Amino acid sequence: MNTIKKEKKVKVKAELHPRNKHKERYNFEELIKSSPELKQYIILNKYNSDSIDFSNPESVKALNKALLLHFYAIESWDIPEGFLCPPIPGRADYIHLVADLLSGGDESKIPKGNTVTCLDIGTGANLVYPIIGVSEYDWNFIGSDIDPISIDWAKEILAKNKNLASKIEIKLQKNADAIFKGVLSKSQKINISICNPPFHSSLKKSQAGTLRKLSNLKGEKVVNVSKNFGGTNNELWCVGGEKRFISNMINESLEYKTNCEWFTTIVSDRDSLKSLYKTLEKVNPTAIKTIPMGQGNKTSRILAWTFKKA
Ligand SMILES: C[S@@+](CC[C@H](N)C(=O)[O-])C[C@H]1O[C@@H](n2cnc3c(N)ncnc32)[C@H](O)[C@@H]1O
Repeated sequence: MNTIKKEKKVKVKAELHPRNKHKERYNFEELIKSSPELKQYIILNKYNSDSIDFSNPESVKALNKALLLHFYAIESWDIPEGFLCPPIPGRADYIHLVADLLSGGDESKIPKGNTVTCLDIGTGANLVYPIIGVSEYDWNFIGSDIDPISIDWAKEILAKNKNLASKIEIKLQKNADAIFKGVLSKSQKINISICNPPFHSSLKKSQAGTLRKLSNLKGEKVVNVSKNFGGTNNELWCVGGEKRFISNMINESLEYKTNCEWFTTIVSDRDSLKSLYKTLEKVNPTAIKTIPMGQGNKTSRILAWTFKKA
């Protein structure tokens, strides 16, 4: 067995990454200058400050669009009704943390430009990881997804943003049980893979999760999910939930161990880690890292592994 570095218990409450552009409160005045349509969604919160209604999908979408236009050199961005509307600060954190992983922790050595190709497994209709990665580090991306609507939408975002078109390739994964197969060719070399996997193990659990999230945001019990409140069926659940999805990824990564330098994924449920470490031990990587990620009381983690020789 190789020496495997794994941080079994993630106790530290993570904060946003030091390079994350969203560490401060949102400056709505500036955001509205970049995206005037945000103005109609501004409300005063209980502290009498500008905010938006985070339980209203249209407001969240308008905020996201403004953030992408303002901070990430986007000209146009949209998602279809009902699709996952990603919180931008958290998504940016993942990109900065994998940049640190590739640099070996030395900020001056973060690789930039065409030297890096990143595979975003399950890129979604929102294409948000590639958008942030291109803007922050000028990396190249491959975005895969099993959902044809997401694929078409992601391609539409590329068509409307010329700066992204030459940096991002979109690929339909035709087999829902496959991760790398059908996306990477046998000889293709990439530096890193990232993934925000479907979390829930059934549609029922996914809908219950959405209701919990909405109830927390509204501060009152919500019993019906509004049709367009983020996350279509495919996006938020898969058979076996994140544990099975990531196990498949780990097992398949062995076959692609010379294609990709670092394999990474978000693990939302800390209780999934134990069985995932067991699966990892079977494929015998040379290193495993568990990197805390999150903000305030919502903490998750990135699980990363590599087969490269030190
Ligand atoms: C939680 S969503 C993440 C979307 C986006 N990356 C984000 O973070 O907002 C998970 C995505 O994985 C996709 N997906 C499910 N199985 C997949 C597979 N085998 N290969 C690629 N994508 C898959 C879903 O269609 C969905 O778009």
